[in-house]
Amino acid sequence: MENKLAALFSNFEDKIKTISNSNDLQTLKSEYLGKKGHISEILKSMKDQTVEVKKKIGPMANEMKSDILNGCDKWLQNFEMKKIEEDLKSEYIDLHLTDKNSYGKQKHGSIHPRNIIQKEIEDVFLSMGFEILDGPHIEDEFHNFEALNIPGDHPARDMQDTFWFHDPNNEDVAADSKKHLLRTHTSTIQIRGMLERKPPFRFIAPGKVFRCERTDASHEMVFHQLEGMMVGKDISVSNLIYFMKTLLKEIFKKEVEVRLRPGFFPFVEPGFELDISCLICNGKGCSVCKQSGWVELLPCGMVHPNVLKHGGIDPNEYNGFAFGLGLDRLVMMRYAIDDIRYLNSGDLRFSEQFSSF
Ligand code: FA5
Repeated sequence: MENKLAALFSNFEDKIKTISNSNDLQTLKSEYLGKKGHISEILKSMKDQTVEVKKKIGPMANEMKSDILNGCDKWLQNFEMKKIEEDLKSEYIDLHLTDKNSYGKQKHGSIHPRNIIQKEIEDVFLSMGFEILDGPHIEDEFHNFEALNIPGDHPARDMQDTFWFHDPNNEDVAADSKKHLLRTHTSTIQIRGMLERKPPFRFIAPGKVFRCERTDASHEMVFHQLEGMMVGKDISVSNLIYFMKTLLKEIFKKEVEVRLRPGFFPFVEPGFELDISCLICNGKGCSVCKQSGWVELLPCGMVHPNVLKHGGIDPNEYNGFAFGLGLDRLVMMRYAIDDIRYLNSGDLRFSEQFSSF
């Protein structure tokens, strides 16, 4: 029996060397380990053998069984590796440019100026302990208006011309058509941010906003804002001004002339408009500043108690400030870009001028 086993295994070793496909491997495996396979038959016959034979041949047969299994697995692994290598060779695509003369002269991508500035601002605020949040472009009335202290009949709704949606599956179009909209400002993220955390906290939220407006040198229908909010105990207007000043100093790397004037936004009280002296015309007056010499850049204020309440925060215990930076206008001032429409033009001749990888 011992010799028979040895002969069977040597036979298996000879046969597996000649196998060239996985079907034949399967057949060979069954020939030895299938129900009626050579090794299976020997193992089955053990029940009729003496104890001595069982003790000697049983473990040998089991060991052989596992050697055959391992041999088959190894064969399969090698076979698959070979196939992968063959496929890689046959499917190879040469991605090099055929024209060797153009090598090294290809244009490289560049970072859009808005992304450069946004990253700089994010770094400034991250270093001051702010988080960076994001929010959806499609919003509901609650986050865009109601929670920001602008109820349905409030005239302040007209301050921002809104793109409304209606749900085509809702038959009550009149009632539904005013429920969803493209967010008109990033202040929506104030509410989302407050509802998701407990004071004290501070975050910024950059993003795209949409308004159904006529475009000109300083107005776009799709533009970018960067919201900021800080909530805690005993926060004051001085804290707000400190953060605004730090932001402008870091971005412009020089003193820039600013003015703070009262501004009305239903979600802050008191509210301010922080304007920057127009860096396109050096305050003399141009189409960007509408001949005023000043550009509206950074509306801000102390968060209205009603807004804190909508964000689940007790206004008797906490207060805070918020601001809504006009990101595209800041980019214009930083790089002296005299028309906001260049920013969304997709013209590579424009974006190439700022930075390249
Ligand atoms: C707002 O959108 C308020 N949510 C900002 C705010 C946040 C105030 C928190 C108080 C507290 P406003 O509509 O003024 O405010 O827009 C903010 C800034 O976005 C403006 O100062 C301006 O820089 C920029 N902006 C407004 N409309 C346009 C536009 N059509 N194109 C380009 N930039 C614009």
